[in-house]
Amino acid sequence: MSAELVRRAREVQRHAYCPYSKFRVGAALEAADGRVFVGTNVESASYGLTICAERMALGAAVAAGARQFTRIVVATDVDPPASPCGACRQLLAEFGLALEVIAAGPTSERRWTLRDLLPDAFARAALEQ
Ligand code: THU
Repeated sequence: MSAELVRRAREVQRHAYCPYSKFRVGAALEAADGRVFVGTNVESASYGLTICAERMALGAAVAAGARQFTRIVVATDVDPPASPCGACRQLLAEFGLALEVIAAGPTSERRWTLRDLLPDAFARAALEQ
């Protein structure tokens, strides 16, 4: 069941720091060992420095020693629910394309695998030739 993971993403979404876009995003990333890491978007007056909720959650997870992930919920206030941006897809892909991605909006959800969202991903293999 993803209800609890959605709840965690919604909970952290309240802490989003987004004074410029006013677009609140919360992410909850579930590790294979059951731990959950959360993140919000953090914006900057120097707009390009903004970091997305998904990459914030991933950073927290890696800093805690987690490297295997099962699911991520991205909570926003729009329907249809917003999917992760390209940069977040690419960074998440570093840890496996089987990740289940769940986008949660106010009244609906969408689900994919990361493989669906990032076909023909750039990957480590290209660097090892
Ligand atoms: N944002 C995320 O946090 N995740 C995404 O996948 C897409 C966009 C944030 C960045 C910015 O603070 C706001 O949403 C609008 O782009």
